[in-house]
Amino acid sequence: MYNFSNVTDKVLHLGVNDRITHLFESMWPLPNGVAYNSYLINDEKTALLDTVKIGFEFDFVQKVEEALGGKELDYLIINHMELDHAGEIKSVVNRYPNIKIIGNKKTFSILTSYFGITENLVEVSDGETLKLGHHELKFVFTPFVHWPESMMTYDITENILFSADAFGTFGTLDGGVFDDQINFDFYMEDARRYYSNIIGKWSGMVQKAFQKLEGVKISTICPLHGPIWRKDPMKIVSLYDKWSRYEAEDNQSVVVIYASMYGNTTAVADYLARCIAKHGIKNIRVYDVTKTHVSYLISEIWRCKGVVLGSCAYNNGMHPSMENLTRELEHMGVKNKTLSLFGSHSWAGGGVRTLSEFAKNIKWEMAGESVDLKGMPNAEKLKPIEELAIAMVNKLKTL
Ligand code: FEO
Repeated sequence: MYNFSNVTDKVLHLGVNDRITHLFESMWPLPNGVAYNSYLINDEKTALLDTVKIGFEFDFVQKVEEALGGKELDYLIINHMELDHAGEIKSVVNRYPNIKIIGNKKTFSILTSYFGITENLVEVSDGETLKLGHHELKFVFTPFVHWPESMMTYDITENILFSADAFGTFGTLDGGVFDDQINFDFYMEDARRYYSNIIGKWSGMVQKAFQKLEGVKISTICPLHGPIWRKDPMKIVSLYDKWSRYEAEDNQSVVVIYASMYGNTTAVADYLARCIAKHGIKNIRVYDVTKTHVSYLISEIWRCKGVVLGSCAYNNGMHPSMENLTRELEHMGVKNKTLSLFGSHSWAGGGVRTLSEFAKNIKWEMAGESVDLKGMPNAEKLKPIEELAIAMVNKLKTL
């Protein structure tokens, strides 16, 4: 009944689409859903690589059974224990009680704590191999891409990399499963948002994984989310390389993000954006931090080189929505941006002062003197805003 997608004649994609969950990790919006991919290698010995999120048991176990065509399932290889992939391990073990489970020491520590499974565990070391028949697999430890136990499985025979969370995207697979069957333009925003929101904090570890995979021939990438890359795997590899180096997609780009209660800081943000445009920068986006989810703002900051943050004063500090954004940025340790700050206040201030504390902590290069306007903006008060805009433009134009 299932319309399976073959990666090769012996390797099948067995994923499911999730169009129900609103927030990934109860945090990140999924307007286009998300796919949880699993793979079956149907060789002399059979191996399932990862499962799917809990709640898809009926659909998933049926798929595994149908793909096996009556054969036993010999191995379950666990590349990642986060429950968007490990959720149906128990269902698979219940259906195939003699299955051998392959993972590393850290995998099994989490596996046992979740499901109480302690039998038929085969602990592998970094670089260890397993022969299934035609296919020979090599296990490559890639800690913190995305959890400490995360590893990849490399098919030495067919040069297929089962890359776990790496090279994944948000967005369901709507018919097209391979990169040559989809319009990637549709996935691009979701891919950056997935990277920046989920993997971005671990960018240093992504670079370490790249070093480890240097020189390895890869013909196909099978990630746990989003399309399978068989036509142009380098496309997603180069995006991940750029993002994990904190390189902007366009060095002459600015995102202006502000919080305003009654419109004064909004007016300053629009004035400043206009000044930046008049001085020659075309790639500018302006966002109200209280309206746009932090998920999209983090992605925009990853995309752009210039970041301008503005906040009204709120209880002697910055607006709580801006505080939420800056806390996330500090937590993720985002690097390599050029920052300008502005704000407005009516009495004691605090918005720009607390934004300046954030600037000290995040250590981005500063452009211009921060501006804190009192009361409503007028031509005189906005003069330093134009100077701030010019300072940002000058920094970006030297790149
Ligand atoms: Fe897709 Fe870290 O789980």
